[in-house]
Amino acid sequence: MRPKADIETLFSAEQIQDRVDRLAYEITQSIGTDFLLISILKGSFVFSADLIRSLHRSGATPQIDFLTLSSYGSATESSGHVEIKKDIDEIVKNKSILLVDDILESGRTLAFAKNILSDRGALSVNLCVFLNKPGKRKVQIEANFIGFDCPDKFVVGYGLDYAHYFRELPFVGSLR
Ligand code: IMP
Ligand code: MG
Repeated sequence: MRPKADIETLFSAEQIQDRVDRLAYEITQSIGTDFLLISILKGSFVFSADLIRSLHRSGATPQIDFLTLSSYGSATESSGHVEIKKDIDEIVKNKSILLVDDILESGRTLAFAKNILSDRGALSVNLCVFLNKPGKRKVQIEANFIGFDCPDKFVVGYGLDYAHYFRELPFVGSLR
């Protein structure tokens, strides 16, 4: 059963919708309309689903694929060891890639994914994250497109989980 939790809203559903629309516009203005969007699972499935529809409204015509990564650790702290659980099907060579994740924290997940795609001959790899926790970085990597900067709190909702719970929340909140 889902643990009882007191959740403080940080970003409401309305704020998120507004920001995702503007983010999609920023993306197409910057990298154009033709790219391969790779959504990192599981955390970014909600963000990606909204983002691709906003991208459509901004004129983008991306290919879309999914990369399932896992970093083992406790429920609220990642271990730093990243592994591919399920690879993408699409060819990366000579393509512009938009790599989408839920949150950039230590940076290990996105650094790992970016390296793989560069090794496979991507033309460019741009990073788009829904949330950025700049205070928690362990490796040097920054996102090209950011939804919101996030305080150093453990957050859930909009795809982000605690022990695979809370992903369904339409807003983002911190666990108190
Ligand atoms: P990294 O530390 O940048 O490699 O992020 C690793 C992964 O940890 C992210 O893709 C998220 O799935 C997860 N994560 C990091 N911070 C949070 C959080 O506050 N809530 C839920 N998941 C998180
Ligand atoms: Mg994740």
